[in-house]
Amino acid sequence: MKNDIEKILLTKEEIQDKVKMIGEQISQDYKDKTPVLVCILKGGVIFLSDLMKHISIPINIDFMSVSSYGDSTKSSGVVKIKKDIDIDISNRHVLIIEDIVDSGLTLKYINNYFTNHNVASVKLCALLDKPEAHKSDLDIDYLGFEVGNEFVVGYGLDYAQEYRNLPYIGILKKEIYK
Ligand code: IMP
Ligand code: MG
Repeated sequence: MKNDIEKILLTKEEIQDKVKMIGEQISQDYKDKTPVLVCILKGGVIFLSDLMKHISIPINIDFMSVSSYGDSTKSSGVVKIKKDIDIDISNRHVLIIEDIVDSGLTLKYINNYFTNHNVASVKLCALLDKPEAHKSDLDIDYLGFEVGNEFVVGYGLDYAQEYRNLPYIGILKKEIYK
């Protein structure tokens, strides 16, 4: 697995420090509220599980699965809900937990979807952002790191369902997905 990585972009330590900071910020901002953290499967799963350990206020968690990607490295632009949340989010504060914003089409769709559900608020939290790849306007309320327009894997992010278990984030060698 390690041999398929061209370069490590973010080390385990850098990620852990940032995730702790975001968790503390969320704890402050949502003081006296019980937000629902909605993790977008599968990429957001490590981020959510690390992040929630640094949140010191009551929270609920839920999961949603959408498809916008096949096993390719380009966004299809088509977003479909494969698994919806279980919790009733009416009048709740929803915080969407996503691994990476690429074109932004996935988050835009999910954001609109929740906004139409009578929620108290919807905010976005993403570990990574590729600002050069945006195809739609999007405000990320909590962001870990900006990365270039390269395909990255690890810490939840996959290529063809692999590499999610790497504890760091790296750029995959081009020959792997060509
Ligand atoms: P968007 O709709 O183009 O913003 O796509 C977002 C989704 O595509 C993310 O939730 C990821 O699952 C996936 N994705 C985008 N860029 C990468 C990448 O560099 N590595 C792995 N997955 C990615
Ligand atoms: Mg994703």
